[in-house]
Amino acid sequence: MAIKKIIAIASAKGGVGKSSITAAIALNMAKTSKVGILDADIYGPNQHILFNIEHLKPKVILKKDKKYLEPVIAKDIAINSMGFLLDETKVAIWRGPMLSGAIRQLMNSTLWGDLDYLFVDMPPGTGDAYLTVASEIKPDYALLVTTANKLAVHDLQKSIILFNKLDIKMMGFIGNNIANIQETNDFGFIKELGISHISSIPFNLDIYNSNLDNLPSCFDDISKSIEELV
Ligand SMILES: Nc1ncnc2c1ncn2[C@@H]1O[C@H](COP(=O)(O)OP(=O)(O)OP(=O)(O)O)[C@@H](O)[C@H]1O
Ligand SMILES: [Mg+2]
Repeated sequence: MAIKKIIAIASAKGGVGKSSITAAIALNMAKTSKVGILDADIYGPNQHILFNIEHLKPKVILKKDKKYLEPVIAKDIAINSMGFLLDETKVAIWRGPMLSGAIRQLMNSTLWGDLDYLFVDMPPGTGDAYLTVASEIKPDYALLVTTANKLAVHDLQKSIILFNKLDIKMMGFIGNNIANIQETNDFGFIKELGISHISSIPFNLDIYNSNLDNLPSCFDDISKSIEELV
């Protein structure tokens, strides 16, 4: 059982498209590679909803008195998420150590099998979840996501500082036009920090409606860039 590359999809700002982009990249890359998704957003998991598999649960396997979870397979992608396991309204009041424990357990008790890529859908922010992911999941790379607006770009700087501190290499960033407006920000500030621009994703009504069956062609370019960069 081996995972070749682990890529965390992250931004400090919430709602910029991390979960949608994680699912879209995974779907695109699953055409040619073995792909998994770990939804590390314990308070607000979304992958089970994006793949319309809310009703499914990972199978529990007992091995030498230890419990393991078989990921749910959707569209050839191995997925595990707290969304399958716990009532989200209960998780909402968890403190930091419980959150960290949940991420650790999700990663380590899942029987991922052989994967070329495991994508980790990160929660917003830069708190406990990031420290746990860095120490327990040890991603090979972070892939940053931002919208072009001032506040998201400003917050991205925090992600960059954090990943530098955690010694996690950054593949680059993706600009996501979730607001369907003419983008005026050229992301110069991010590029000056040495982070390369991988692609820009246009506003897309299917993505807006969480329908990921007809992905725009930019996801082919993003997949190619990932294959080249790892
Ligand atoms: N390119 C796009 N075009 C249209 N809508 C988009 C696009 N990308 C994301 N969205 C929409 O923007 C909203 C936020 O996306 P998403 O939930 O993927 O962001 P997130 O960064 O994972 O949020 P959170 O920080 O809460 O985890 C969703 O409603 C999604 O459908
Ligand atoms: Mg999300």
